Amino acid sequence: MNSGRLSGRVALVTGAGSGIGRAISQALARDGATVVVSDLDLDLAKQVSNILAGSFPIQLDVTSMESAKQAVSRIERELGPIDVLVNNAGVSTMAPIWDLTEKEWDFNFDVNAKGVFIVTQAVLPGMMERKRGAIVNTASMAGKKGVPLLAHYAASKWACIGFTKSCAVEVGPYGIRVNCVCPGYVATSMQERELIWEAEARGMSVENVTAEYISKTPLGRMQVPEDVARVVAYLASDDAEFLTGAAIDITGGAHLT
Ligand SMILES: NC(=O)c1ccc[n+]([C@@H]2O[C@H](COP(=O)([O-])OP(=O)(O)OC[C@H]3O[C@@H](n4cnc5c(N)ncnc54)[C@H](O)[C@@H]3O)[C@@H](O)[C@H]2O)c1
Repeated sequence: MNSGRLSGRVALVTGAGSGIGRAISQALARDGATVVVSDLDLDLAKQVSNILAGSFPIQLDVTSMESAKQAVSRIERELGPIDVLVNNAGVSTMAPIWDLTEKEWDFNFDVNAKGVFIVTQAVLPGMMERKRGAIVNTASMAGKKGVPLLAHYAASKWACIGFTKSCAVEVGPYGIRVNCVCPGYVATSMQERELIWEAEARGMSVENVTAEYISKTPLGRMQVPEDVARVVAYLASDDAEFLTGAAIDITGGAHLT
């Protein structure tokens, strides 16, 4: 059902071709937004856009300033000002610190940390001019605690949270809110890959690692992308009009801060 709370708003979602980004695009569209479904992989973006009435697919590589600027100016030209930005694109790899390569470190940081800065900087001038906007970043529970085999990923997500809070302070006077969400164990293709890596690294079965995740979650199940998407849609809307600089845990209680 369309709540209408985002009617007339243009929302750009990065990494929207799969998992959490796809669910976020659906939730924003349900609330009435015109959603720009962006992804590094244009085919994935098109697949999501095909099932979302009134949405538009676009290729956007969050690690490229040029790609972000081109996408933003095209959206502003064809659809109008961007009201909502969801910096959701993310990658992960798993390795113990002693085996971690510089390439893996850079890959995780380029997408998860620098990518958030790049697309935010591309979108901000328009929002600052209109003195209105909502930005929501997908951080992680790993951005709030230490996580074995994911030090580089966790560090990039701590950076995302630090950027979110600093940005909220800087652009608050322009009427722009900036928040992030910190999901836990969400069933997506990223999580599937991590489960296999972790099971291999720990000599366990994927089923046992999954059962361990669930046992650490007081609400007793794996998360689904929609658990995250509903909170993002709220943060993007005026229902959260006095909420900024927050890093909201969505973990079913697996992590409490
Ligand atoms: N799945 C989890 O358990 C979990 C938990 C906490 C946080 N997160 C975060 O949620 C976000 C979404 O993850 P997901 O689980 O849906 O993963 P996913 O792999 O299903 O989706 C990630 C999407 O990002 C896109 N992408 C990758 N590099 C990109 C780039 N350079 N530019 C643009 N798009 C790019 C991919 O093509 C893909 O469509 C990520 O930021 C991730 O770190 C996931």
